[in-house]
Amino acid sequence: MSEARTLELVFPEHANPGGNAFGGFVLGLMDKVGSYAAIRRARRRCVTVRVGEVVFEVPIKVGDLLEVVARVVRVGRTSLTVEVEVYRENLREPKMLATKGNLTYVAVDEQGRPVPVDEPPPSV
Ligand SMILES: CC(C)(COP(=O)(O)OP(=O)(O)OC[C@H]1O[C@@H](n2cnc3c(N)ncnc32)[C@H](O)[C@@H]1OP(=O)(O)O)[C@@H](O)C(=O)NCCC(=O)NCCS
Repeated sequence: MSEARTLELVFPEHANPGGNAFGGFVLGLMDKVGSYAAIRRARRRCVTVRVGEVVFEVPIKVGDLLEVVARVVRVGRTSLTVEVEVYRENLREPKMLATKGNLTYVAVDEQGRPVPVDEPPPSV
């Protein structure tokens, strides 16, 4: 199954005045990296159709280094489910899981219509 991962440092513009990262910033990262995993598997443009339950278990702070790991865990006819985990670490604390969720993507053609995942990509 396909995987994608990225590292991202949390800057002050990603946080509220208390120094915690905005949930929307973290969700955006999850969606972005999740889509990379889906596109890798489908070899097609993929759009997000569902963001499953996401729980923010541990606060993410300015200065934390985030590792976002996305793995395709289900392939349907045109849809794919991707499990996305966000780990945080900093100079004082070891890497720990902060947030996890499942996102579903649909492979689409140039008109945005669903297409089967296993269909080969058009020749370039
Ligand atoms: C995603 C989209 C192309 C699906 O179109 P649709 O007409 O609902 O397509 P279908 O009914 O044929 O469903 C296609 C697949 O999506 C799945 N799906 C549709 N709605 C779903 C939902 N709410 N949750 C999970 N899966 C869903 C179907 O189960 C199907 O999967 P399968 O082929 O693996 O069995 C369409 O809803 C769309 O364009 N949505 C907007 C996407 C977007 O802009 N995303 C960015 C958000 S800002």
